[in-house]
Amino acid sequence: MLFRQLFDKTSSTYTYLLASRHGGEALLIDPVFENTQRYLKLLEELDLKLVKVIDTHIHADHVSAMGKLRDATRCVTVMGEQSPADVVSLRVRDNDTLTIEGLTLTALHTPGHTSESYSFLMDDRVFTGDTLLIRGTGRTDFQNGDPYEQYHSLFERLLKLPDNTLVYPAHDYKGDTVSTIAEEKAHNPRLQVRSADEYAEIMNNLNLANPAMMDVAVPENLKLGLRMAAQHRVAVMEVDEILADWPCQDCQLVDIREESERRRFGAIPDSIHAPYGLFDQYCCSTGPLAGIAKSTRVLLYCAVGERSTLAVEIASELGLRNVAHIPGGFTAWQKAGGPVEQIA
Ligand SMILES: [Fe+2]
Repeated sequence: MLFRQLFDKTSSTYTYLLASRHGGEALLIDPVFENTQRYLKLLEELDLKLVKVIDTHIHADHVSAMGKLRDATRCVTVMGEQSPADVVSLRVRDNDTLTIEGLTLTALHTPGHTSESYSFLMDDRVFTGDTLLIRGTGRTDFQNGDPYEQYHSLFERLLKLPDNTLVYPAHDYKGDTVSTIAEEKAHNPRLQVRSADEYAEIMNNLNLANPAMMDVAVPENLKLGLRMAAQHRVAVMEVDEILADWPCQDCQLVDIREESERRRFGAIPDSIHAPYGLFDQYCCSTGPLAGIAKSTRVLLYCAVGERSTLAVEIASELGLRNVAHIPGGFTAWQKAGGPVEQIA
């Protein structure tokens, strides 16, 4: 496995790069906007294809590189389902698995620092965001933070992981790089409490100043997604248009979401599946979509229209001309009351 812990000096943020092999797919956790070129250079040097980027939560102390990385690499942006960010490609919920080639992460909803904070467990290590820090815990006094929820996230979730699990936080201000669950249980001063009330008492009396970047970072991080205007930079067919002439006679609907999303939410009836991660293979000259597009309009959809915008661009670069997408994706389809088929 390739594993890199990258440090941002200004915000003391750790960003993690994960991949199973040189030449394969990669994932980044909590990337910082100002370091985007550094990540892209490293990905190139290690011959990696960035396919997913996770933000563990809406950061208040730095702007995320998620949007810039998506624009540069067409990677999938990932956050928890509770995230207030307006457009996120893929939303995970508690205990969902998130995969890239050769690696699987389990999403753990660990609210408290913020209501949408997630940790991600991968084999012998856990990426704890700002929930559990080395000898500390993330503050709980803004962004729907709640010390009682954090107490639960810590004591009922993270500290129940095996003692030798490596702890990789999103920040460290002293230069520590890694810890373990056992070490934090024994030596983290915030965890030496007997009750949630005692924990809340500590957290409610920290009296910390707001992060310097907060007023800039939070609003920026809420709108990194490809919103409606951006989704119209490629050919579209609106939900209303499709429903006015349903069932669609002269178009083929193509679902580019992951199998887990299809099983969870259902799909538009009669759509075929061409997952975004393999989309270029489906569009190459011998791929199934290339054949269909010769005679029929291909209509792509994903969860919210972000991946499908990028997919129309990929299709067009590969020479497919008859491809459009549904702005707002399956979410807009459901909102409009479009028919949904359950996927077994
Ligand atoms: Fe944070």
